[in-house]
Amino acid sequence: MAILLTGGTGKTSVRVARLLQEASIPFLLASRRGGDAAPLGMPATKFDWLDSSTWGKPFEHKFLNGESISAVYLMAPVVDDPETSMNAFIDYAIKEHNVKRFVLVAGTSAQPGKSGVGKVWQHFLDTGIDYCVLCPTWFMENFSEEAQRFVIQNQSKLYTACGDGKIPFISASDIAAVAYRALTDAKSHNTQYELLGPELLTYDEVAAKLSSCLGRKIEHVKLVEEQRVQGLMSHGLPEHYAKFLTALEVSAAGGAENRMNDTVEKVTGRPPKNFDTFAQENKAVWQ
Ligand SMILES: NC(=O)c1ccc[n+]([C@@H]2O[C@H](COP(=O)([O-])OP(=O)(O)OC[C@H]3O[C@@H](n4cnc5c(N)ncnc54)[C@H](OP(=O)(O)O)[C@@H]3O)[C@@H](O)[C@H]2O)c1
Repeated sequence: MAILLTGGTGKTSVRVARLLQEASIPFLLASRRGGDAAPLGMPATKFDWLDSSTWGKPFEHKFLNGESISAVYLMAPVVDDPETSMNAFIDYAIKEHNVKRFVLVAGTSAQPGKSGVGKVWQHFLDTGIDYCVLCPTWFMENFSEEAQRFVIQNQSKLYTACGDGKIPFISASDIAAVAYRALTDAKSHNTQYELLGPELLTYDEVAAKLSSCLGRKIEHVKLVEEQRVQGLMSHGLPEHYAKFLTALEVSAAGGAENRMNDTVEKVTGRPPKNFDTFAQENKAVWQ
């Protein structure tokens, strides 16, 4: 058994790779930047969802004991129709390389058949291939590994259109722990998991937690929809993506993310990380 991790330089794939490494299970990271951006010492290859001439590269990789890729972790590219390339790759991987299982990262709003990754999910059901769909809520690592990191560092502010909406933020390490089980358990899970963190927090509460961790005031600036779209675009986001992200925030303000469950603990046997622990672990990145 060897595992192919697409999104190989991203927040969850690298953490799945660490778990595989600890368990001595062979893996390969795959993304457009490949080995140029993968963690040192981890095997990686260049792979572009939008360039089918790269899709064979992972299968040419020589694993130490001659293993072949039997399961793939699927991370969608940010395009309007990720399903076109992803479903074509899935068919190719099954037919040409005998891949047996796929684990897809979607979002909490994904549903089978719905445009985007929902159509990839539907493809699993139509083909009958072994699968698991992970539907995580918002990542804690958006505060430490994305643009917000620098806004906190330089301005001590959080800008959102989330208002007083509550969000059960989850750590990428907990998503990775569930993905690891779904990829490697002898029996395929063949289900979807809504992955939520252990507490519901407003951005005001996140700001208060960061303030107490960092010993300086972090302020949550509440924006209306249009201000938020303009703000994201002024930082270089394309209009459609700025509108998409803002719409997610506006729906969170209306309660769309307000829910709790114990799925992470049920699948992994341990409770998910809370925000205070995450903040302490990452304190250095905001100073
Ligand atoms: N962040 C959140 O709060 C959140 C919440 C719920 C769901 N999600 C979902 O989780 C997934 C990951 O999001 P993220 O923000 O965590 O992403 P991320 O960490 O930025 O990772 C994205 C990965 O995709 C790779 N990539 C991008 N375009 C590619 C392409 N055309 N071909 C091959 N690889 C490509 C990137 O590497 P290269 O640049 O090297 O190609 C990177 O490794 C997304 O599907 C997102 O919808 C995220």
